[in-house]
Amino acid sequence: MTYQVLNRDGIFNIKEIAGEYYAQQAHLDEMGQWTHDRYLKQSSHARAMVRAPSADEFKDCSVWSINHYLGLNRHPYVIEKAQKAMALYGTGCGTSAMSGGHSQLHRDLQKRFAEIFSKEECILFPTGFTANSGTIAALCKGSETLIIIDRDSHASIIDGCRASGSRFIPFKHNSVQDLENKVKKFSGKHINILVIVESAYSMEGDVAPLKKIIELKKKYGFLLYVDEAHTFGFYGENGRGLCNQLGVADDVDFIMTTLSKSTASIGGVVATSKEFASFLRWSTSYLFQAAIPAADVVVADACLDLMSSQPEIIESLWDKTHYLRQKLVELGFDIGKSESPIVPLFVRDSDILKMMEKELYERGVFTIAIQYPVVKATEVRFRFIVNNSHTIEDIDDLVSILCELGKKHGLIEGS
Ligand SMILES: Cc1ncc(COP(=O)(O)O)c(C=O)c1O
Repeated sequence: MTYQVLNRDGIFNIKEIAGEYYAQQAHLDEMGQWTHDRYLKQSSHARAMVRAPSADEFKDCSVWSINHYLGLNRHPYVIEKAQKAMALYGTGCGTSAMSGGHSQLHRDLQKRFAEIFSKEECILFPTGFTANSGTIAALCKGSETLIIIDRDSHASIIDGCRASGSRFIPFKHNSVQDLENKVKKFSGKHINILVIVESAYSMEGDVAPLKKIIELKKKYGFLLYVDEAHTFGFYGENGRGLCNQLGVADDVDFIMTTLSKSTASIGGVVATSKEFASFLRWSTSYLFQAAIPAADVVVADACLDLMSSQPEIIESLWDKTHYLRQKLVELGFDIGKSESPIVPLFVRDSDILKMMEKELYERGVFTIAIQYPVVKATEVRFRFIVNNSHTIEDIDDLVSILCELGKKHGLIEGS
């Protein structure tokens, strides 16, 4: 059930819609299937005590749904720096960047990210979500810009497009041909065309054909925005991202990443030219949203230190990723086109997916079933996100449980 489905059925009254959502939630609870609202007793880690509202107790689980790729959220160096910063700078900032919410620490982090992404300046937003939604909305106000986005774009990108009021159209996921068709069709009809892609996509872990997109950019002259949320930290030199790895950072107009994934904090950054940066300072997300606390700035900064001083952390993440991927492929699972630490496991049947989600939890594995309408009904899947705090034993356990359930539900051969 979705809002759109209810509308199609003639239900428009907001109270009635809320009642339908409540009835659906209660039904799933009763079936022991309301798993989207699980929570962890002591926050994120490779293992955690997890509670589903339908269960009466916390369960010890390995956790595969968290994007702390480098596993640094409990690293002693990071924790010590955060504790010291909190003692010195206190907690929240109480206001936005423009009105005193930024300290020298915030300024230094902006500068550091500008250097990392080889750009003149960088703007620090309170979250990755509002970095995307705020930037896109600020840049594209009015009718003279056409925004072209990958069909699988993150909700923050779509929200930004909607808030901009500009026309936006999707192109087929990762299809350079479809992107070229759309750019060709609309070139000359708009003063600006902004193309937005993610360097890796969160639902499948596949990577964007950035080099080919840059070739198109050179041919047609559009502006290019790349969201590096799922590549920053482990692609490129010292984790500087995919644009860095491919040597194309100079050709990209806006490089964005979130601080909530590899750098285990909160916040979002957009690195760009000094002119665009001055434009983005007028984004409502920057102007009217409280800045992140100093301790969170220091956490991100400490993670950047570790990324450059301890390359073995990044290597280890890749080793574990390859290990999991290889084991699943050997067993015959369909893991799609993933190249990153996001490893999908396609189930393609919603009933089996929901059943397996419950069975995984019962066996001490916590992950999220990705279902319709987030993805097509024929593409429903699980997503296992490797992070460096997972051990090889965690991976072996996961693989053996998946093997048992995969055979039971006919996803792989054997009985
Ligand atoms: C591609 C992408 N961009 C932006 C965001 C938003 O980042 P945050 O959750 O840190 O606000 C996410 C979060 O999942 C994401 O996957």
